[in-house]
Amino acid sequence: MGVLQAAKIAVFVSGGGTNLQALIDAEKQGIIKSGKLSLVISNNANAYAITRAELAGIPSAIVTKKEYGTQQAFENKIIEILEEYGIDLIVLAGFMSILSAEFTSKYPKRIINVHPSLIPSFCGKGFYGLRVHEAALAYGVKVTGATVHYVNEIPDGGEIILQKSVSVKRNETPESLQQKVMRQAEWIILPKATEQVCAEIVSLRKENKK
Ligand code: GAR
Repeated sequence: MGVLQAAKIAVFVSGGGTNLQALIDAEKQGIIKSGKLSLVISNNANAYAITRAELAGIPSAIVTKKEYGTQQAFENKIIEILEEYGIDLIVLAGFMSILSAEFTSKYPKRIINVHPSLIPSFCGKGFYGLRVHEAALAYGVKVTGATVHYVNEIPDGGEIILQKSVSVKRNETPESLQQKVMRQAEWIILPKATEQVCAEIVSLRKENKK
């Protein structure tokens, strides 16, 4: 497939960007072949994910809520950049800001997110990053995992695309569990789901041309 036909992907990040790295590596390995990583947007100027984007030669932009004042102004700036780059799919990869219903309804089935638990457990408002693993350990679950889902107006409430389970051993800490869930689940299912959705976008585009 020619690069011209590939779906253009924007990845939204806030921190370390290991999931972004998994996407970059998957594109290099040909796991992602129907999409092209075309833009990285961070809401945190200090995110190491920005450096990962630069090293991979992907254009990046920093858009902070502080700079734009309101949620609406913040999202309008993001939309302006997405349109400038002709983005087809948004991948939330450790993006720690909840997008408004106005934003998500503009991109139905065109935003996906990776969440570090088996939804519907340990998800929704307040469940992000290490907190998810702290809650899973406090509950005493023996199996956890990760979920990639479409994003709609309900935090972590959109249709599930892929899930992968991970077993919780004794003496696990939130940090060790986070690493395990990333390594055994997130870094595998996020690239897979991204390819799956990009392939759908490309085939829909072909259908529409007929
Ligand atoms: C990942 O575990 C991701 O699933 C989680 O934050 C981490 C980001 O790591 N996301 C959420 O909790 C969203 N609700 P990364 O920056 O290294 O990819």
